[in-house]
Amino acid sequence: MIDEIKEINNLILKESKSIGTKDELESFKMKFLVKKGLVQSLFLKMKDVPKEDKKDVGLLLNKLKQDSESIYKELEEKFQEEEANTPSIDLTLPGRNSNIGTQHPVTQTIDMMIEIFKDMGFAVAEGPDIEDGYHNFDALNFPHDHPARDMQDTFFIQSDKELVLRTHTSPVQIRMMENMKPPIKTIMPGRVYRNESLDATHLAEFHQIEGLYIDENVSMAELKAMMMTFAKKLYGDNLEFRFRPSFFPFTEPSAEMDIRRPGTTKWMEVVGCGMVHPNVLKSGGIDSEKYTGFAFGFGIERITMIRTSLDDIRALYENDIRVLKQF
Ligand code: DAH
Repeated sequence: MIDEIKEINNLILKESKSIGTKDELESFKMKFLVKKGLVQSLFLKMKDVPKEDKKDVGLLLNKLKQDSESIYKELEEKFQEEEANTPSIDLTLPGRNSNIGTQHPVTQTIDMMIEIFKDMGFAVAEGPDIEDGYHNFDALNFPHDHPARDMQDTFFIQSDKELVLRTHTSPVQIRMMENMKPPIKTIMPGRVYRNESLDATHLAEFHQIEGLYIDENVSMAELKAMMMTFAKKLYGDNLEFRFRPSFFPFTEPSAEMDIRRPGTTKWMEVVGCGMVHPNVLKSGGIDSEKYTGFAFGFGIERITMIRTSLDDIRALYENDIRVLKQF
């Protein structure tokens, strides 16, 4: 019996050394420690031990039981500690998708419009966001008492020098004329600023695409045809649009084009246009006897609203990913 105890003791020592996982520890417990395990079954054999040896064998057996249980406890604690220190990463889980950015719908519109106008022979140019009063107003034939020059409508940067955040992209027309000789056929996209209260169709900061075509014999009929071609290219044949006479200081005659918002009865003004006023040609250093031209200025956010069927312009800049993701 004593030999048997020693043998099992050796076995326990040997096997416990090679335990490396929780499962192996569990098998160890099943083999030695449970009721029908090797240690417990030795206790059953105690009844066959001669009376005079019972005390010694009993002590030895109890020691074996205690030793094996403390080996088990120690390893169990070691594994628990290890588990607590390892972050629980399940490498078999599928990866989480990160949000991949897309182009903002307004940028998409600008790119689409540039493509369409390029096909019609227009070049692309840009001008500064901070303008002087001369380019933003005077050269464009705004009279000195025009309401747009009021602080209520325009963000002044330096009122003494009349530096403003441009209220439209039209001053870029003047910069084109100053730097080029006709024929000029250019579009000028950019950001514009107005001291305006916000609502479903107005923002204080938005985008326009200006267009300018100056050559000999450029006519209003061509302007209208070009606006119609553009609208059809962007929206398809089902689009409903209308022209209305209008007024701008820098064009004569002037017009506006409205587009019917899909699925509604509402018209939205998307572009102002007209024949470049002779005073404006003069400001740009162009001979108004020889050349004529037309100009136009689109509101890009409004075009985007029609394109995307958004009915509130502010939704474009609230950065709600659920809105932006749809386009
Ligand atoms: N600048 C005008 C605006 O911001 C839009 C505009 C109208 C531009 C007529 C033009 C034009 O070039 O010919 O409301």
